[in-house]
Amino acid sequence: MSARVVRTVADLRTQVSSWREEGLKTAYVPTMGSLHEGHLSLVRLGLEKADRAALSIFVNPTQFAPHEDFDAYPRAEAADVRAAASAGAELIFAPNASEMYAEGFATSFEMKGPAEGLETDFRPHFFGGVALVVAKLLIQAGTDYAIFGEKDYQQLCVVKRLVKDLDIPTEIVGGPIVRDEEGLALSSRNAYLSPEELAVARTLNKTLFTAAADIAAEPARAEVRLGEGRAEIIRNGFNSLDYLELRQAGTLAPFTPGMKEGRLLVAATIGRTRLIDNVAVEVG
Ligand code: PAJ
Repeated sequence: MSARVVRTVADLRTQVSSWREEGLKTAYVPTMGSLHEGHLSLVRLGLEKADRAALSIFVNPTQFAPHEDFDAYPRAEAADVRAAASAGAELIFAPNASEMYAEGFATSFEMKGPAEGLETDFRPHFFGGVALVVAKLLIQAGTDYAIFGEKDYQQLCVVKRLVKDLDIPTEIVGGPIVRDEEGLALSSRNAYLSPEELAVARTLNKTLFTAAADIAAEPARAEVRLGEGRAEIIRNGFNSLDYLELRQAGTLAPFTPGMKEGRLLVAATIGRTRLIDNVAVEVG
């Protein structure tokens, strides 16, 4: 199957509206490209919910700080279009920066709630940029569903809050994390890892999963166990740890005694590559 690539909001809207007029529902998968199985799984999940799938490819400048990897972020549009089409996407929205942020663009977002702490403590600009571009993408496309990965769990919570707050009539669906055969969460940034760094990166999900299992079994020891997990991450060769934290699933409020549905989230850097991962913690 092949996919149609459009570069303007007008063309995107025309296609999604014509599907709607035919009585077809559309699922949308926003991405920054450099597609891997994680992204493609979201296209397939979208097609379980809807009749048509569309995917966007846009490396969004407003979610990168000046010192981050915006210029180096991997870009491979032709291969991405083929991969998205093979997963069943029929429409690709791949705008230029000027289509998204026209001359004189003057709007910015600030979010609290699930955007507080975790990523925001280390990338304060990040969720303002994500919320802005996701609001634009969803309003532009007007699809029935939009699919986001649990890989970026805080982002998923932020997006769910955003559409509620702005009355955007798109249902947000979360898709499970796709991992490689050794459990490493797939990420476009894994391409930056040297073989030695990859070996260190592979320890992260193991630390995360064993800590989650231990905390689920003995929640009263959670703080101590988190301390052990933090030390283990550095011992395993990560250069720095941004956070290993237990939060309430969904709201991302601090996890307090009596809560049942937790989420353990981690961000750590190896060499120049920052990795994030997370897992559910079901207490009781
Ligand atoms: P990007 O990093 O390209 O990710 C696009 C979508 O793919 C996100 O919803 C992300 O959570 C999901 N994803 C990435 N790796 C995954 C994996 N291993 N398993 C499951 N899903 C995975 O996230 C962004 O782009 C941007 O912030 C965006 C939302 C597009 C806004 O610019």
